[in-house]
Amino acid sequence: MAQLLITGGAGFIGSHTCLVLLEAGHDLVVLDDFSNSSPESLKRVRQLANLEGSSPRLQVVEGDIRSKSDLRKGFRAGKGIDAVIHFAGLKAVGESVREPLRYWDVNVAGSQSLLSVMQEENCRTLAFSSSATLYGLPERVPVTEADPVQPINPYGFTKAAVEQMLEDLSSSEQGWRIARLRYFNPVGAHPSGQIGEDPNGIPNNLFPFVSQVAVGRRQELKVFGNDWPTPDGTGVRDYIHVMDLAEGHLAAIQHLMEQRPQLLTVNLGSGQGHSVLEVVQAFEKASSRPVAYQLVERRPGDAATTVADPSLANRLLGWQTKRSLAEICRDGWSWQSQNPEGYRGS
Ligand code: NAD
Ligand code: UD1
Repeated sequence: MAQLLITGGAGFIGSHTCLVLLEAGHDLVVLDDFSNSSPESLKRVRQLANLEGSSPRLQVVEGDIRSKSDLRKGFRAGKGIDAVIHFAGLKAVGESVREPLRYWDVNVAGSQSLLSVMQEENCRTLAFSSSATLYGLPERVPVTEADPVQPINPYGFTKAAVEQMLEDLSSSEQGWRIARLRYFNPVGAHPSGQIGEDPNGIPNNLFPFVSQVAVGRRQELKVFGNDWPTPDGTGVRDYIHVMDLAEGHLAAIQHLMEQRPQLLTVNLGSGQGHSVLEVVQAFEKASSRPVAYQLVERRPGDAATTVADPSLANRLLGWQTKRSLAEICRDGWSWQSQNPEGYRGS
């Protein structure tokens, strides 16, 4: 079993991945500045993994990835970090347009400082949270890893820059084992409803918005366009259950440690597309609550359809998604209905 450093481990995808890694027997050090999360998520991860509050299997270091001394504290908290999963970063597209320098600082300079400290600490195994946002407006679907990287907003450019930095690094020196994991649309929650997505303010993304309408926190969803070239005219995306995604990280880390590829780039998606109205209907069914919506103009920068070709991840990692849209909505509702105000309510 390995000891892993998880940057951003208190966040949405990080917290679910921590649980899956702990259950698989790995020991963890989480480094997070809690700028977009709460220590409560890790407290609940501990409970779900049946760990005592003081268990050394999950250590938490409050710190910023841009600070090398915070990163060194993360490395020293462990007995010898074997690999890093790097989730920490900023992810809101609109905010990245308004505050590009902050995005370049946290996402790019933060990743650079992490990589320098990894080199210093002689740790060269890394899984990085990349995104389907890299593909911009895809020319064809399903999207494969060979399709062009053509981001259309600052958030996407920062992810592309880190991907390039990782490629340069992996070819500069033997010994690096790097996975660039391109997530499609992570949604849902742990089936217990104890951990889930807890966005600050008004959600930008469809799934948390729909669940907040169902629970009564928001009045109605605005559906961005019903004139897209899709079966029902609304946008189609590849929604992936966050537990499937978490299991994808476990598979990627095992692959890096056992097969030792220098650089690996894979889509993590289901390969299935669902429209906005299909998500609304599935959520209404799972929650037995109405989800009011209004059809409005298209959102600038949106694509009609984005769906992954996940066959490379299926083949290389022996991983594929197992959970349906109905399960995504069931688990998302379990989290939302038990935690209507997210972690703030606890
Ligand atoms: P999240 O905001 O819930 O988690 C990110 C975590 O990083 C938070 O706990 C936050 O407090 C922490 N963090 C932010 N800046 C930090 C810093 N400077 N130092 C230390 N910690 C810091 O987001 P998430 O949805 O869990 O996403 C995780 C990663 O996956 C991000 O890199 C994101 O860009 C990427 N990603 C997310 C999605 C998505 O839809 N959620 C899709 C594709 C890629
Ligand atoms: C968004 C980001 C993308 C990021 C992805 C996953 C933008 C422009 N793109 O993409 O960079 O990689 O999240 O984090 O923000 N929708 C509505 N009403 C809403 C919200 C969304 O109708 O209130 C529609 C959208 O038009 C889209 C679908 O729902 O068709 C999904 O939207 P969203 O959850 O924001 O994901 P992406 O558009 O894939």
